[in-house]
Amino acid sequence: MSDARKDRPTSRRGFLAAAAGAGALAAAGGARAQGQKPDPLITEPQDWNRFLGPGVDAAPYGKPSKFEAGVVRRHVGWLTADTISSINFTPLHQLDGIVTPNGLCFERHHAGVAEIEPGKHRLMVHGLVEKPLVFTMDDLKRFPGRVNKLYFLECAANGGMEWRGAQLNGCQFTHGMIHNVWYTGIPLKTLLDEAGMRNHAKWLLAEGADASLMTRSIPIEKAMKDCLVVWAMNGEALRPEQGYPLRLVVPGWEGNMWIKWLRRLEIGDQPWQQREETSKYTDLLADGRSRRFTFVMDAKSVVTNPSPQAPLRQKGPNVLSGLAWSGRGAITRVDVSIDGGRNWRNARIDGPVLPMSLTRFYVDFDWQGEDLLIQSRAMDETGYVQPTKDELRKVRGVNSIYHNNGIQTWHVKPNGETENVEIL
Ligand code: MTE
Ligand code: CO
Repeated sequence: MSDARKDRPTSRRGFLAAAAGAGALAAAGGARAQGQKPDPLITEPQDWNRFLGPGVDAAPYGKPSKFEAGVVRRHVGWLTADTISSINFTPLHQLDGIVTPNGLCFERHHAGVAEIEPGKHRLMVHGLVEKPLVFTMDDLKRFPGRVNKLYFLECAANGGMEWRGAQLNGCQFTHGMIHNVWYTGIPLKTLLDEAGMRNHAKWLLAEGADASLMTRSIPIEKAMKDCLVVWAMNGEALRPEQGYPLRLVVPGWEGNMWIKWLRRLEIGDQPWQQREETSKYTDLLADGRSRRFTFVMDAKSVVTNPSPQAPLRQKGPNVLSGLAWSGRGAITRVDVSIDGGRNWRNARIDGPVLPMSLTRFYVDFDWQGEDLLIQSRAMDETGYVQPTKDELRKVRGVNSIYHNNGIQTWHVKPNGETENVEIL
C-alpha cells in the first residue's frame, strides 16, 4: 500500500462514522438520529417472527440457506468437449477461512464419477513386496494408526488458461482448481510396511477403479513420507466426486497423483511411463522439450476478495482477503500490493498455518474510489517467493498448461467493478 494509505488506519471509530455517512447505520449504539424515518425492518414484524419454522428433521441431511443458492461449483462450457472428462471450479470468492466445504470441492474427472458400493471395493498391494495383500474397506477401517490431516489439493492445470495472458474473469475460474480438506485415513507407509517392500523397491504405481484407470508413478520416498489412504473428508465419508470409498492423498504434489477410487498399489523399481505422465501432465517448454515428473506445487496465492465475481460495493473501510499455499511446506509471509507491485505491505495471516494447507490472509484497507491494481505474493518456509507471470514465462515460455503459479493482478475500477488484467 502507498504511504498515504498506511497512515490512515481503519479504526472502529472511523468505520462507524463511514457507515453512518453511507446511511447504513443511523447512529452508534442503535439510537435513531432525529428526523430520520423508522426502518420497517426493525419496527415492523417480519414473517420469520410471526410464523413457526420447520421442525427438526425437515432436512435430515442439512443444506445451506436458500439465500446462498448461488454459492456453487461452476464449469466453463468451452473448456472441454463434454462434462465427463472435465473440470469445475471451487467458488473461492464466496468462501472464508481455510476449509473447503465438501459440496464445493472442485471436481476433475477423466471418465466421470465412478459409483462404487463400498462392500465391493478392494485395494490390492502387490509387485516388489514380500506379501501381496488385498484389503476390504472394513479391513482398512480396522487398521491401527489412523490419522487426520488438512491438505490442499491443486490440479496441475490450475491457472493453465492464463499462460498467454489474462483470460477468465473470476478467481473461481483462474484459481478454483483447488480445495483444502481434513482427511481421515491411514499412512500409506503402514500398508507398505505390512506388505514388506523388497530392497530394490523404488517406485509405486497407484491406480483408480473408474473407467479412466487413472495411473501415476510415485517415488517410494514420497509414498513412505507422508502419503495417506483416506476414506473420510471433513469428518464424513468421501463424496463420490472425490473418490468414494477410497482415495490417495499426496500432500503438496499435483492433483492428478491423488488417485480417486483407489484400487491398486503396485511396487516396482522404475516409473511405469503411463499416459498421464508422458503424454499428459508434462510441461512443454519454449524450445520443444518437456519437463517430466514435475510433482510439487510451488508457492502461490490469490486475492479472493475483491475479485471479478466479488467487486467492491462500498467506499470506506473494506476487507481484502485471500489464500496462500505451498507444496513445499508452510506459508511464512504474504505481501499485498494495491498499486500493481510498486509498494508492498505485509498481510495479516489468520487461522492455523499448516504445511501444505491453504492459509488465509487479510488486509483491512480504506478505499475512496481510486483505481487499484491488487496483487498478492506468497513466501514459504524454504524461502521460495512466488514469481511474477513474466518471470515465469522467461523460464518456461507459454507452451505449458501446467504449474502456473505467477502473481495475479485484479484491476478495481472507480465504480468497484473488478477485472482480471496483467501489467505489461
Ligand atoms: N483419480 C481417478 N481415478 N480418476 C480421475 O479422473 N483425476 C485427477 C485426480 N485423481 C482423477 C483422479 C486429477 S487431474 C485431479 S486434479 C484430482 O483427482 C481432482 O480431485 P477432485 O475431483 O477431488 O478435485
Ligand atoms: Co488435475
